[in-house]
Amino acid sequence: MKVTVFGIGYVGLVQAAVLAEVGHDVMCIDVDERKVENLKKGNIPIFEPGLTPLVQQNFEAGRLHFTTDAKAGVAHGTIQFIAVGTPPDEDGSADLKYVTAVARTIAEHMTDRKVVIDKSTVPVGTADKVRQVMEETLKQRGSTVPFDVVSNPEFLKEGAAVADCMRPERIVIGTDNKEVIEPIRELYEPFNRNHDRMIMMDIRSAELTKYAANCMLATKISFMNEMSNLAEMLGADIEKVRQGIGSDSRIGYHFIYPGCGYGGSCFPKDVQALIRTAEHIGYQPKLLQAVEQVNYQQKYKLTKFIKHHFGEDLKGKTFALWGLAFKPNTDDMREASSRVLMEQLWEAGAIVQAFDPEAMNEVQRIYGQRDDLKLVGTKEAALQGADALVICTEWQNFRAPDFDVIKGTLKQPVIFDGRNLFDPERLESRGFTYYAIGRGA
Ligand code: UGA
Repeated sequence: MKVTVFGIGYVGLVQAAVLAEVGHDVMCIDVDERKVENLKKGNIPIFEPGLTPLVQQNFEAGRLHFTTDAKAGVAHGTIQFIAVGTPPDEDGSADLKYVTAVARTIAEHMTDRKVVIDKSTVPVGTADKVRQVMEETLKQRGSTVPFDVVSNPEFLKEGAAVADCMRPERIVIGTDNKEVIEPIRELYEPFNRNHDRMIMMDIRSAELTKYAANCMLATKISFMNEMSNLAEMLGADIEKVRQGIGSDSRIGYHFIYPGCGYGGSCFPKDVQALIRTAEHIGYQPKLLQAVEQVNYQQKYKLTKFIKHHFGEDLKGKTFALWGLAFKPNTDDMREASSRVLMEQLWEAGAIVQAFDPEAMNEVQRIYGQRDDLKLVGTKEAALQGADALVICTEWQNFRAPDFDVIKGTLKQPVIFDGRNLFDPERLESRGFTYYAIGRGA
């Protein structure tokens, strides 16, 4: 099938590459000329396992095209995906200006029937807005070309985006026109074998499903973080509690890992956007507000431990920091807990000596050159001359470090672990002071 994807961000690029991989003819449109030129040369703007070869191979095979020419893009696909960003505006609501701009562009250029699919995470009611913008634009052109608007939210996780897209757990389709079901089934057929993963519903329910899923997951995390604070004060071990409750199949083991707070481009933004949506319609979403507050506080957790240990004034202290990205297998620093930590440490006068396998360039881009930030090439180098070690991201190769090296290099054998990677008893028996989340400091 011929498919057009507007927006070459995480969602758009991964979706486009995966659709091309199964044989569809996919054209990607972006306003960013440099990004488009780079992609044509095989330079992928994001770090995502498996994505680079997928994009390169399909580009070379002629199934994946990149252009800034919106008119050509509209002419290309019967299916037109909108996968542009919906950044939070000043009050945290999702800003739809990019989504509506694409809707206008499609309507300006279309000459045959289009199925317009909202892939971006958009508030309930956005499909109606897209339809309205398109109808107005068509009217101005004096055109009556028919079109459909469908909501098809994306559930991929950064770091596992290609795999999630190749083997989706569900394909949610929100539509009010049964006729579009067939072309959409054909589009997703290669991902829908063995058992039917398509869940059909009305448009508003599909739009809310996306927010409900992310908010539910964020709620699980904040719940566990709250439990971890209680465990700490009550002398319990949250890791034992996690296993104890996870074994209940109604609760499950997923997304109940306590830590130094959730980050990324999705949970913080989506929880906030749903809070704003609720408030706009006169509903106080108390649970979601608490989820957000608990997460906000949790990002200060490691700083609290550090100040408890070293005192409020951290002048002259250097902290080795392992892990900067908001989670492993990505270079994404958006809303990363490490940012709150670094900013707090700097404010208290400390120096941060950091290592991350992928996010160093991103950190450099965000903070630039500064005397109190040293980015080093290995996790061992981060320990040199440092007073203590702090862990913010659970990269695989942080899980089994050489503790003798850590002890021999740090000025004091102290570890502040925001991801509960180690066994407290083992570390204590080796002479470390070990602060972890919800494990009794
Ligand atoms: C999230 C969802 O998991 C995806 O299903 C969704 O499609 C995506 O948002 C989106 O809306 O685009 P993502 O933001 O890539 O995906 O990352 P997650 O793996 O969900 O992790 C989010 C944050 O939660 C990370 O900071 C992670 O460290 C934290 N987390 C996760 C915990 O603190 N504890 C857990 O048990 C799990």
